[in-house]
Amino acid sequence: MDLRHKPVLLQQVIGSLALEPGLVYLDGTMGSAGHYSAVVSRLVPGGIAIGIDRDQSAIERAQARVDELQLTEVEMRLVHAEFAELERVVYEVGLEHVDRVLLDLGLSSDQLDDPGRGFSFLHDGPLDMRQDRSQALTAEVVVNDYPADRLEQILRDYGDERHSHRIVRAIVDARDRGRIEGTLELASLIEEAVPGRRGKSHPATRSFQAIRMEVGGEVRQLEEGIRQAVELLSDAGRLAVITFHSLEDRIVKRTLRPYGRHGGRRDWQVNMLGRVIEPDEEEVRGNPRSRSAKLRVYEKRLMTGDAR
Ligand SMILES: C[S@@+](CC[C@H](N)C(=O)[O-])C[C@H]1O[C@@H](n2cnc3c(N)ncnc32)[C@H](O)[C@@H]1O
Repeated sequence: MDLRHKPVLLQQVIGSLALEPGLVYLDGTMGSAGHYSAVVSRLVPGGIAIGIDRDQSAIERAQARVDELQLTEVEMRLVHAEFAELERVVYEVGLEHVDRVLLDLGLSSDQLDDPGRGFSFLHDGPLDMRQDRSQALTAEVVVNDYPADRLEQILRDYGDERHSHRIVRAIVDARDRGRIEGTLELASLIEEAVPGRRGKSHPATRSFQAIRMEVGGEVRQLEEGIRQAVELLSDAGRLAVITFHSLEDRIVKRTLRPYGRHGGRRDWQVNMLGRVIEPDEEEVRGNPRSRSAKLRVYEKRLMTGDAR
């Protein structure tokens, strides 16, 4: 199979999830099944592996890939859903607990590199940015129909964009002339609006990230997905999260804090195991998109001794 996406921190994910035959694994961001297919073969015999993605084309790629594995002694369920509804997915499979959960956040290379999906400011495409193409909200609506103050706040909050005011002024001026429809049109508007010298990244990087996060409801998805995951984890269950920027980092830490040893819970806790894991130089050389990745692994422990 021709797969563009290289799974990030693969060996580290496999090692830190302490995989064993018979475990129940849930991959909330299955993508092209890079991590999923490596994990699933370690659950044989008797394991169950649920793979979720909100992009139907990822489900199809993943299905083709797992078919190639020809594994029979493990149950695989691939589900088109959002990870903010992972509790429902798990119950529908007939389970009440999961032992391992992985969230590998953001975009896959298959999504980013397809101009028709509208995620990239390097190729021309429609302003779309939906991972789930059945949802109504697109980047075109955010850019053209959102009030200026809301748009500015999105660029600031989700992109840490300090030129949000100038950028939104340029967008609003352009809107007077007609709807903004293409990724390159938006990228060049932003480029012209941002003053001064070029940094290391393209001037549209932060705005595109922010708009994508709004379209995907990513903050709510992440908060909700983490909450449901930790509720569902069995005793000694593990949650691994790979983040790619500081806002994702903050949300993960903030959402998990109340479950930690200082959170005041008595029945169970979820604490981070070890340190944050980052790719080594060799991985970054082979896969530049891994450069900002951070892996955090958390473990749930029942405090009563009443193991599930
Ligand atoms: C970085 S890729 C995962 C790649 C995968 N781990 C692999 O190795 O092939 C992220 C995937 O998560 C999906 N995704 C992002 N947010 C999601 C959400 N809230 N619910 C379900 N899937 C989501 C995207 O559609 C994308 O396919």
